[in-house]
Amino acid sequence: MTLIAILPGDGIGPEVTAEARAVLEIVAPDLRFETGAVGGAAFREAGHPLPPATLHLARRADALLFGAVGDPACDALDRHLRPEQAILGLRRELGLFANLRPARLFAGLEDASALRPEVARAIDLVIVRELTGDVYFGSKGRRDRDGTREAYDEMRYDEREVARIARVGFETARTRAGRVCSVDKANVLETSQLWRDVVVEVAADYPDVALTHMYVDNAAMQLVRNPGQFDVIVTGNLFGDILSDQASMCAGSIGMLPSAALGATGKGLFEPIHGSAPDIAGQGRANPCAAILSAAMLLRHSLGREAEAGRVEAAVAGAVAEGMRTADLGGDASTAAMGEAVRRRLA
Ligand code: NAD
Ligand code: IPM
Ligand code: MN
Repeated sequence: MTLIAILPGDGIGPEVTAEARAVLEIVAPDLRFETGAVGGAAFREAGHPLPPATLHLARRADALLFGAVGDPACDALDRHLRPEQAILGLRRELGLFANLRPARLFAGLEDASALRPEVARAIDLVIVRELTGDVYFGSKGRRDRDGTREAYDEMRYDEREVARIARVGFETARTRAGRVCSVDKANVLETSQLWRDVVVEVAADYPDVALTHMYVDNAAMQLVRNPGQFDVIVTGNLFGDILSDQASMCAGSIGMLPSAALGATGKGLFEPIHGSAPDIAGQGRANPCAAILSAAMLLRHSLGREAEAGRVEAAVAGAVAEGMRTADLGGDASTAAMGEAVRRRLA
């Protein structure tokens, strides 16, 4: 039987994950669910953001539905005990190196986008973000330099890491408009020069895909100037993190963007790109669409249930088109009302 690990986490994580799970229960009633503790909630419960029991569940599960982690009350903890270590630990332990972050504008959300409607309407891209390397996982620390405090985070990539994410980018482009834009900072960073060299080498295996390169600062600007120019953006861990939050506001809200974290096997971790949103947690105001769309990606990428994934996405599009709006989209619908509107279209 297919086992889905539900990892709700902190803040709005449990609120949005509950709505996404309820959607899965309708379209895939055969799935079995088990819940695990992560983040600040797990730290309080078990003394660690990613307790052994949760990691064990993650290894047993066929796919993981993750909410969000992060809790201001934990900000003073040692870095290795902070809630964020749960998601970083899962990505690393499960080898989830490829992060797909699709951004498109659902019809009707033109007003919610930070861009002019005609510019916003054109956005339909996927950010393919490398997820287990870069400055996130290099050595980091503090040292004393002549009585002055110094901190460092090593930015590093090896050619194998770059090649495998580049392949995901090219393969993704083959299922779409066939264009890859590799985003880096090769004018300054040695990691980026290696990145660009390797992407060009891998491109030789994909003569049918058009490859361009762009510096990340320009990419940030182009994303709001004309997001319609992008099909697949392939980029490193840090740049992908930043550009995907930016892309979300082009598409209407950070509450609309899902993601899939994939490795060498079919197993994946699926989560909204947003965090625990402490400023609205516990108020029933969070937009659950990103979590629900992440559940759709779970159906597609880990379970191979394309039809069900499409039905869920159509239900979200339908709910939004009929005028359902949470606060981030300029309305006053609750988390539960938005979830219910999606499920009504699936029943
Ligand atoms: P955030 O994404 O949690 O929130 C940023 C802003 O967007 C806030 O104003 C929030 O209210 C709003 N927002 C986010 N999701 C929303 C939703 N579904 N509906 C409506 N509004 C939404 O980012 P932050 O405030 O920088 O970080 C808060 C905490 O979350 C931090 O501890 C951070 O480390 C963590 N975080 C975790 C993840 C993850 O678990 N993968 C991702 C990002 C941030
Ligand atoms: C995300 C988050 C995480 C990241 C943090 C919480 C570690 O911002 O999933 O986008 O930077 O990858
Ligand atoms: Mn992020």
